[in-house]
Amino acid sequence: MKDSKPTEILKIDRALMVGVELLDEKRFLSLENSLSELKRLADTAGFEVVGQITQKLNRPDPKTFIGSGKVREVKNLAEELLADVILFDDELSPRHQRELEEIIGRDIRIIDRTALILDIFAQHANTREGALQVELAQYEYRLPRLTRAWTHLVRQAGGGGGRTGGTAGVGLRGPGETQLEVDRRDIRRRISHLKGELEKVRAHRQRHRSRRKETNIPVVSLVGYTNAGKSTLINRLANARVYVANQLFATLDPTTRRVELPDGQQILITDTVGFIQKLPTTLVAAFRATLEEIAEADLLLHVVDITHPHAMAQAEAVHATLKDIEADDIPAIPVLNKIDRLDNPQKAQDALGAFPGAVAISALRGDGIDVLLETVKQKLYESYQPVSVEVPYNQGGLISLFHEEGQVESIANQYEGVHIKGKLPVRLLSRFKGYIVDDHLG
Ligand code: GTP
Repeated sequence: MKDSKPTEILKIDRALMVGVELLDEKRFLSLENSLSELKRLADTAGFEVVGQITQKLNRPDPKTFIGSGKVREVKNLAEELLADVILFDDELSPRHQRELEEIIGRDIRIIDRTALILDIFAQHANTREGALQVELAQYEYRLPRLTRAWTHLVRQAGGGGGRTGGTAGVGLRGPGETQLEVDRRDIRRRISHLKGELEKVRAHRQRHRSRRKETNIPVVSLVGYTNAGKSTLINRLANARVYVANQLFATLDPTTRRVELPDGQQILITDTVGFIQKLPTTLVAAFRATLEEIAEADLLLHVVDITHPHAMAQAEAVHATLKDIEADDIPAIPVLNKIDRLDNPQKAQDALGAFPGAVAISALRGDGIDVLLETVKQKLYESYQPVSVEVPYNQGGLISLFHEEGQVESIANQYEGVHIKGKLPVRLLSRFKGYIVDDHLG
């Protein structure tokens, strides 16, 4: 065995979690549940959680987020537990971060929920667009927080996501500039470079999307809380092999698969990024384009892990994000997943009562998939909605689409365009967005 290399021992960072209950805050998960989710995020990012501290507050302390006495308690416990990292369950402002670092010292890193999620996203971004989006979000998050300690980290990271070849931190110092100013300038330059690159990737995707629209194949988007089982479901439906892992945010980049419905009609199914409560604002902004793709779907399958103790709260968090990206008016089928794990079939029945119009399935074993496909077919092809539209004359394609696929009840030529009253398959409603005359909606 003389050639064998010494086994490398990877040190796992020990983390102390800090959670705050703000008295007036409307939250989806209780403090305790939010912390158990933070623990899962920490596990996914490769930390070992060694303890937690909580505090109830009327409002965050403007300087240190938690009260000053609590900061000392956190510092002492972190030292006692030999923690390398303190993980805050909320997003800290740049000032909070700075003041906390000052008191706690540089030996223990302070990481907030946003930085943690950004780190997981950076590890899981597989496509160029995903990597660019995460890197952009990371720099935008870091810019206002840049202190000497951060400068060091940015250098080490070599550019956030690391897959797009970051260059921040290598600029030469101009006359009278401090290193911090140089770093800020480099990061700003990098941000505008990333934005430019993203524009190019998006223009390309937009062309794809328009081509997809021309073929008239309905697009069904899977949405759901992280780990609900979306990738497993798309695999089941399309026999595709999409990466499935019992980790949060295993899927970051949208994947599209072609699926055949029972009568041979084709649909496109896209898997999207998993949602989570308190999805960092920088990430929502960076991923807006990807998320907006959801808003163009004809139908949503909202996958819910019905065995999760907070299934309802998770579903609400998904609704909130859908509302945020203006996708809450798209028809949706709640898909209650993982029923194979329920010990009592009555529980599935009870759950179906709580989610109107839902279908119960096991994406893993295949139970309920036939019913799901049948429901998708009905929603896409058999449900019509009464509607009135006013389509401009230069949108001839839409006018013929209404004639071909819808049921026209009356039609009138007006000054601005053609006024059509009738019924449209639900899946086509989004194509007429902007031309729907509200007061005639049935
Ligand atoms: P994100 O990538 O985080 O958005 O997750 P996802 O919604 O794509 O979930 P994924 O398909 O990766 O599944 C998460 C975990 O749940 C994996 O361990 C799956 O094997 C498991 N899982 C998914 N569907 C089922 C199911 O029907 N039954 C059981 N028992 N486990 C399931």
